[in-house]
Amino acid sequence: MRLLGFCVVAVAAVAVVTPLYTHPPVHAAETPVTWSRQIAPLVYRNCAACHHPGGAGPFSLLAYSDARRRGRQILEVTQSRYMPPWLPAPGYGDFADARRLNDEDLALIKKWVESGMPEGNPAETPPPPHYDATWQMGKPDLILSIERPWTLKASGSDVFRNFILPYPLAQTHYIRAMEILPGTPQVVHHANVLIDRTASFRRQHPGEWKDGVPGMELELDAGNTFDPDSHFLFWKPDTPLLVEPPGMTWRLDPGNDLILNMHLKPSGKSETIDAQIGLYFADKPATRHPMLLQLDDDRDLDIPAGDRNFVVHDELTLPIDVEVLGIYPHAHYLGHVLEGWAILPNGQKKWLIRIPNWDIDRQSVYRYRNPVFLPRGSVLHMHYAYDNSDANVHNPNSPPIRVRAGNRSVDEMAHLWVQVLPVNVPKGSPDPRLLLEQAWMEHRLSREPGDSIALYDLASAEAGLGRYSEAAAAYRKLLRADPGDSRTLNSMGAALDKAGDAAGAKEAFRQAIAADSGNCDARFNLGSIELKHAVFDEAEHQFREMLARCPADAAARSGLGVALAGEGRDAEAAGEFQSALTLDPQNFTALYHLGEMAIAAGRPGDAIDFLLAASKQNPNDIDTRERLAMALAQSGRSADALVQLREAELLAPDSADLHALLSQLLAETGQLREAIDEQNEALRLQPRDADGWNSLGVLEARIGKPDAARLDFQHALQLEPGDAQARANLAQLPPQ
Ligand code: HEC
Repeated sequence: MRLLGFCVVAVAAVAVVTPLYTHPPVHAAETPVTWSRQIAPLVYRNCAACHHPGGAGPFSLLAYSDARRRGRQILEVTQSRYMPPWLPAPGYGDFADARRLNDEDLALIKKWVESGMPEGNPAETPPPPHYDATWQMGKPDLILSIERPWTLKASGSDVFRNFILPYPLAQTHYIRAMEILPGTPQVVHHANVLIDRTASFRRQHPGEWKDGVPGMELELDAGNTFDPDSHFLFWKPDTPLLVEPPGMTWRLDPGNDLILNMHLKPSGKSETIDAQIGLYFADKPATRHPMLLQLDDDRDLDIPAGDRNFVVHDELTLPIDVEVLGIYPHAHYLGHVLEGWAILPNGQKKWLIRIPNWDIDRQSVYRYRNPVFLPRGSVLHMHYAYDNSDANVHNPNSPPIRVRAGNRSVDEMAHLWVQVLPVNVPKGSPDPRLLLEQAWMEHRLSREPGDSIALYDLASAEAGLGRYSEAAAAYRKLLRADPGDSRTLNSMGAALDKAGDAAGAKEAFRQAIAADSGNCDARFNLGSIELKHAVFDEAEHQFREMLARCPADAAARSGLGVALAGEGRDAEAAGEFQSALTLDPQNFTALYHLGEMAIAAGRPGDAIDFLLAASKQNPNDIDTRERLAMALAQSGRSADALVQLREAELLAPDSADLHALLSQLLAETGQLREAIDEQNEALRLQPRDADGWNSLGVLEARIGKPDAARLDFQHALQLEPGDAQARANLAQLPPQ
């Protein structure tokens, strides 16, 4: 069935899919290219995802009769590479799911059409792929629908509409896959899903959000926690299902909204948009945290009418090693040649993408077949050329007009989003995404010193990196321009607190609350700072005030619990911890304190459950490990307790308390020599601990070394002459 010499190349490429290609080559003249043998598999693989009944393509290509009827047209659009739709040039980035026919495929189509499109033996046609309008991975764990179906008019220009889908659950969930059923794929050109952590967009449009809000781009308020955008949640007709790589789930919290940002094209008849988003939950939070970086140069976009080659550029130096996972170039109708590359520290140029003929209708996120490693010091480049002449068939204006940046489709945009995963992160470093954020914001400020959002984000990154004074200084700078900004006041308070200035911090929180009595974060922070200084009644007051406004906040509930426990009101405290867990079963504070309370109440079994769950949330927390070890020891599980303490010791080798605790447990299980080693280690770290010397003496005495024990007790008494325990122990030793 092989006709031409170069078809041999196709053997390796397609043999997996169609075993037919593994037949030995036969002479050309005897075996024509047929639908059943070569063309159907090719079409099913490259075209059918859109060209099936109900798909995004204007007609189905599943049956021989369908394809035959359009043979000529198929030949044309494939030779011109108009189909399948695929913008990136080959050789400039190796993308997964690249939809690009190779020369062999093109030759097969040509031969087939020119030889009269024979069907071949219908019995040999592989079964066509199956598509239906239901969920590909089975019923999702959660289905969100737009509030009200919306009618797209029969005609007119493109429509960009944002539908808001509030996350309705009271618990946090981690998402491993998402599928979008747009309802009417024929009119949906692409869609983005954005996570609005603070429901800010809904608040901006209280009256209209249920019907969707027009607009091509939108600005969302990310809130105060560092939680950068991390995933491309992008829908296009042929890939409605997004499955995240292992360990890279994304999170939805109570109070979040999903925003479905749709690009719609009128089809000639009016259509009802009734989209649904299906979400599949994972049981674990992410272990790997990618981040989306944005290069952009909107501020330079001012494109004269008729300009055929208007160029903008941006670049960003990477402060850490990363792997690039995906890329999303974005311009509107005048974009022409869109390029992204990296210059490595050794000067080498690594292409990330090149789109020689941009078409907004075909925009897409591109994911690399293999992650692209970029060492620290590499410079990311965005380089876009625009064509605002009549030669650009996409130009919405004839004659052309001057075009500037903006979020309407008649405006322009120059964005390049890059999804990067920090790699080679030294153990114990702060979240590496903070370094990316810092570099990114410093870069933005270098171009636009008055960019207050960048300054705010830079300050937050500095705080996250532990550079609290720098952070406070940056917040102060922001406050000079806007002294009554409640959020900045709150953030400054947090930075001052961390920098050790408790009084300044409280003052800032109070000002934040005065500026906006509904600033729950400031109340929470004021409550927490009072807790830290054991002013429990004041803390209780702040948490209660906060809960009156934000009743569903698990952190405030558990904060209130801690305050009540501090006031000795344990039963009420336990109640608050329990309600915190109903809101968020993974709330660390609640789990930890319920565990501690169970130990105190002599219920080590319950304590173990709580503390294991707490430790899962916060595996590096030494206190949790210590408490867990105590609970395990109390329920007779000394070996498990030892494991916990040994792991804790690895995390904090210089904790004297930990060595002392280990010593105690070893002594209880009769391992006296090991116990002595641990106690010696504890005393090496904390030599002025009288109790510790006393404990060491007891151990020495137990292994029959009264002389050593005597020295230890004397040492304890030297440090603390009133140490009755050491004195009694000394008296009990046999005379010298
Ligand atoms: C990602 C979805 C998608 C894939 C994959 C795809 N098409 Fe299309 N196709 C479309 C859409 C949408 C249209 C109509 C709008 C347009 O022209 O973009 C179209 C239009 C066409 C047309 C009509 C062109 C015209 O000028 O009216 C032909 C013929 C066609 N496709 C053939 C193919 C073939 C052959 C393949 C595979 C080699 C293919 N398509 C793959 C989405 C797709």
